[in-house]
Amino acid sequence: MAKDTLSITDNRTGKSYELPIKDGTIKTADLRQIRVDEHDFGLMGYDPAFLNTANCRSAITFIDGDKGILEYRGYPIEQLAEKASYLEVAYLLLVGELPNRKQLDDFVYTVTHHTYVHENIKSYMDGFRFNAHPMSMLAATVAALSSFYPEAKNIKDAQNRRIQQIRMVAKMPTIAAFSFRHSMGLPYIYPNNDLSFVGNFLAMIKKIGTDTYKVNPVLEHALEVLFILHADHEQNCSTTAVRLVGSSQVDPFSAIAAGITALYGPLHGGANEAVLRMLRGIGHVNKVPDFIKEVKEGEAETRLMGFGHRVYKSYDPRAKVIKRVADEVFEVTGKSPLLDIALELERIALQDDYFVKRKLYPNVDFYSGLIYEALGFPSDFFTVLFAIPRTVGWVAQWEEMVLDQEQKIARPRQIYTGAKRRDYIPFDKR
Ligand code: CMC
Repeated sequence: MAKDTLSITDNRTGKSYELPIKDGTIKTADLRQIRVDEHDFGLMGYDPAFLNTANCRSAITFIDGDKGILEYRGYPIEQLAEKASYLEVAYLLLVGELPNRKQLDDFVYTVTHHTYVHENIKSYMDGFRFNAHPMSMLAATVAALSSFYPEAKNIKDAQNRRIQQIRMVAKMPTIAAFSFRHSMGLPYIYPNNDLSFVGNFLAMIKKIGTDTYKVNPVLEHALEVLFILHADHEQNCSTTAVRLVGSSQVDPFSAIAAGITALYGPLHGGANEAVLRMLRGIGHVNKVPDFIKEVKEGEAETRLMGFGHRVYKSYDPRAKVIKRVADEVFEVTGKSPLLDIALELERIALQDDYFVKRKLYPNVDFYSGLIYEALGFPSDFFTVLFAIPRTVGWVAQWEEMVLDQEQKIARPRQIYTGAKRRDYIPFDKR
């Protein structure tokens, strides 16, 4: 009869072991009993970059990379992007269920009334150089929030945790907008409680020389959809950073700051910025075949940025929604000349053996940069536009980690490859 176990024979010793299989996984800690003798530490799993290691149980986001499925708390991303607001999705991720009208109104009220930052944050941000990257400013300022809310380190208290989560979600657009204004040499604009979450963010970015700012509803909606698409993506590099740092029981602001720095990298959230650099570098549709050749030949380790994904081995479902949003945005703003280059890259790559064989499809970042540019954002701000909505995913994952009885401080093992024990050599003998 079939059993949910794995039988292993260790050919070094001839001994056999039976390990339980639960949810399609074995516990790697169960391998430790497999030893050649009593001095042996026991068998370990070797898995650089966690290619095949589940680090947690999670009930937040489901991805089927082969089928191109993404769901938040069971709801398909396509439905949420079409029908929900960003704060409705934020509530869903944080609480686990969609809010009823009253719950949503209360949540929106609470978030709206936590958007202000301490005045000292402004002077703190004034200290950055005029050309500081907005992601560096964001990471440093979010880390600094822990000094403004020392009670945040009391992570055992559920109510205390919730208020810090709300603060994070609510203040992120304010800090992001301040970092934008700083790099533009413009005065900071305070949040306006009469505006929507996205509308207020855009006003804090764009307002110059007027008390009112009228945001185009198509563009506001486009950014809201992008925020929904970026709200969570299970155990990616930045979320794992938040969980690993958070596992030391540090306050959530410090843990989220780690997530922001992880997101900054060009292989993660920095890819949308890299896509625009790549498109500009290609310069013209005619040059696309040469560029594809360069990528395939691996010259200068060029990659087709915005293509490929560790989990999706078919079209990223977020990229599909984004392509539709891009059409709506370009109706209003006029088409970006880079769009033709992107479409041609996609067309060629999707029928080229190199990309087909490796299952490389457009990911969320391939078209998002073009939309951000059409909305008037400079490319070094794109990753910030990813970090704002991802904050709710990070805090939801952090909360889950804090409550998970199976979690402990993260501490991987290593395979030591260095020198064997040797004696210190004095300078005159080296
Ligand atoms: N262009 C050209 N070749 C690629 C690309 C690409 N964008 N991505 C992967 N490959 C090749 C890679 O060279 C390797 O080929 P080979 O087997 O011949 O050595 C094969 O495909 C597998 O690549 P990998 O690096 O082992 O795959 P990974 O799962 O470690 O990397 C990735 C995933 C996203 C880092 C990678 O696809 C990549 O660098 N893409 C470009 C950067 C990018 O768009 N990142 C955004 C990711 S989505 C947003 C997010 O979640 O943050």
